[in-house]
Amino acid sequence: MDFTTKLNQLIQHVDQAIDDLVPPHPGPHAGPARIHEAMRYSLQAGGKRLRPVLVLAAAELFGKPSASAPIPSPALSSQLSALSSSSAFPAAVAIECVHTYSLIHDDLPCMDNDDLRRGRPTAHKQFDEATALLAGDALLTHAFLLLATHYATDPRLATALVRELADAAGGSRLIGGQMQDLLSEKKSDATAGELEFIHLNKTAAMIEASLVSGGLIGGAAEADLAQLRLAGRHLGLTFQIIDDVLDATADSATLGKTAGKDAQADKTTYVKLHGIEAARRMAQEQTDLALAALRTLPGDPTFLIALTQAMTARAK
Ligand code: IPE
Ligand code: IPE
Ligand code: MG
Ligand code: MG
Ligand code: MG
Repeated sequence: MDFTTKLNQLIQHVDQAIDDLVPPHPGPHAGPARIHEAMRYSLQAGGKRLRPVLVLAAAELFGKPSASAPIPSPALSSQLSALSSSSAFPAAVAIECVHTYSLIHDDLPCMDNDDLRRGRPTAHKQFDEATALLAGDALLTHAFLLLATHYATDPRLATALVRELADAAGGSRLIGGQMQDLLSEKKSDATAGELEFIHLNKTAAMIEASLVSGGLIGGAAEADLAQLRLAGRHLGLTFQIIDDVLDATADSATLGKTAGKDAQADKTTYVKLHGIEAARRMAQEQTDLALAALRTLPGDPTFLIALTQAMTARAK
């Protein structure tokens, strides 16, 4: 199967798994119904689904097939005993929930103040700020419910997945990176080290966690988990450098989000510190390091290699 066919197939399975594993919005009480509607609005707007696809592809390297249909749709917290811990789909959806929450909050007026996301009005524009805030909170929390529910038959795996995601999403990583991103706005003396800290944490942490979670589900050995983490670190840096380049070079219709926001807010980015051409070169260097780490892994990393190359090619 060629790369694009396989990618599209995985994205379709992820979309189905999201539909199965996120609460539906009609319900007897208006509060949860509105929150579930807002959660689904942002999740189901699409997106590249990079992180869940990385979970599935990494699990597949270690023998967990992802090309088959997603898990049978379970009632949210019942049927525990009937569930097997072998599917990577609940972890893939959990990571997409955390990522989507981070986008909803990133777009709020008190953060980047954006009104377009995934080609649609942002959550706070479509609903209101309080609903967007709460939908983000609910997505973050739902991620951990998914992990605790669907991997309960293998408590060691469940604990490892919860720990991995909590660490990646927490104050030292994603949130710490987002905080630094805001503190570094309008700074004329930001250093390359500060910039790398922002990218490693606001973005690479979740990409590392995606690959490592797939490896954990596949039963990868410690040494292979370390290589997955390294690949995620470099792919994450590539990914955010390219995001910064595209913010400066692409248009809003192509991006599905407002272009030119970084210059407008005077963000500390690779483009601001190094210029577009140097940023593209740096992204390629990080891609090469990611590819080197992927090539050390057992199994067939062809798909992950092509995915990494495709992420770099977005800004060429
Ligand atoms: C946007 O992530 C935020 C960054 C970390 C750059 P994506 O570019 O993966 O956004 P979606 O999921 O495709 O919408
Ligand atoms: C966002 O970085 C990273 C997270 C959401 C954690 P950006 O602020 O550059 O993302 P976009 O460009 O709005 O998607
Ligand atoms: Mg931001
Ligand atoms: Mg933003
Ligand atoms: Mg950006």
